[in-house]
Amino acid sequence: MASRKTNFQNQKLSVDDVTLVDFRDSDSEDLFEVADVFCDFLAEAMRRKFMVYAQPMMSGPKTEFQVYDRNTQSVRQFLNFCSYNYLGYSYHPEVMQAVKDTIDVFGTGAVSAPLFSGYSYLIQQLEEAVAELKGKEAAVVFSTGYVTNLGVLSALLHPGDIAVLDILSHASISDGVRLGGADIKVFAHNNPQHLEKVLKGLKGKRVMVCVEGVYSMDGDTANLPEIIPICKKYGAKILVDEAHASLIFGEKGGGVAEHFGLEDQVDIAIGTFSKSFGAIGGFAAGSENLMTYLRMYANSYVFSCAMAPHTAAGILKVMELFKRDGSEREKLWENTHYMHAHLKEAGLDIAETKSQVVPVMAGSDLRLREISTRIQAKGLSTGVVAYPAVSKNKARMRLSVSSKHTKEQMDRCVSIIKEVFDSMEGWEPGQNEE
Ligand SMILES: Cc1ncc(COP(=O)(O)O)c(C=O)c1O
Repeated sequence: MASRKTNFQNQKLSVDDVTLVDFRDSDSEDLFEVADVFCDFLAEAMRRKFMVYAQPMMSGPKTEFQVYDRNTQSVRQFLNFCSYNYLGYSYHPEVMQAVKDTIDVFGTGAVSAPLFSGYSYLIQQLEEAVAELKGKEAAVVFSTGYVTNLGVLSALLHPGDIAVLDILSHASISDGVRLGGADIKVFAHNNPQHLEKVLKGLKGKRVMVCVEGVYSMDGDTANLPEIIPICKKYGAKILVDEAHASLIFGEKGGGVAEHFGLEDQVDIAIGTFSKSFGAIGGFAAGSENLMTYLRMYANSYVFSCAMAPHTAAGILKVMELFKRDGSEREKLWENTHYMHAHLKEAGLDIAETKSQVVPVMAGSDLRLREISTRIQAKGLSTGVVAYPAVSKNKARMRLSVSSKHTKEQMDRCVSIIKEVFDSMEGWEPGQNEE
């Protein structure tokens, strides 16, 4: 995304005319003035009750939780379709016990970078478990998924190299490429023909193609059976970020690449522990040599504190539970199919989702603002995704389905959304101005 400067001078800003991207950069003489202008916008957004982001959670990410609602200035019970706790593992009693037991021995944090004293034997075990899950020789555990992409891509791609990204790729991927100084080219979402056209024009360059297993805003899956052969044909390396697909797709939970039987064709498998694993952290998996290299040259690994030992212990317990009993994932798929069918039946547009990540298309940013305020008032918490996270007229609610949702909760979710969408009939931007 090209950086664009906004000229705020002498302009009377209307909250209905600007979006978050307008505050990325300004051409003001004062470096910090943009923050003041942004805070004016925010105050107005709060007054109009459509600032639904970052409200303090007062309880854990279960299917119903307590949230401090800024609009009512009170703690309210919400139906939760917003957490990435797809398999509910963050509050599984055995996982919580493993975490508590490890804190008793290791204390609360690693308190050192992994190349020094931060690399606990639990992280080593976790890396071995991840390599097995991904069908790769080795893996490296990072402190978040975001810094995994940052570290891996900036270590491997440099000026003169090219990263070819699906246009819907996560910000951590483009940020990582930019940090290394390589150029970015994009191809149309999940479109192998367009990918081929782009690669054809890059002969003689070192190229890495980056895609996601399950797309984080759309819930559809990468067309790897067509994309991978094209990468091979043009000698491009391929990185697949399976943040939302790990433990969900593939017989052993490896992700979409495993689902298609293509694990061994992927050069670098990326993932995060912040979704189905119910924790925090990220990983890269690939050849032994590549992982050994990343340990020394991925700056976000080398110059950052290691994952806390208790986090690694909790994730290892999740992986053990997942291997022992597949019923949690079966339940998630049952719930996912139920939600797809019922949302469609209610006449809602859920785009091309094939997974537990379910967009409900809302139209413009302004329409989404109004919808999300009304939905929140009815006690439903969903992702609210607007420009620049998605393109301008593709704003959406994003639902995260969990194996722990009951039928009653799913029915309630669909009926709140339908009621609110129906209530938008005839709504025009600006009409709710006080
Ligand atoms: C595709 C993708 N990659 C990376 C990340 C970053 O992961 P984390 O939240 O663990 O930093 C996300 C987070 O949503 C994601 O969707």
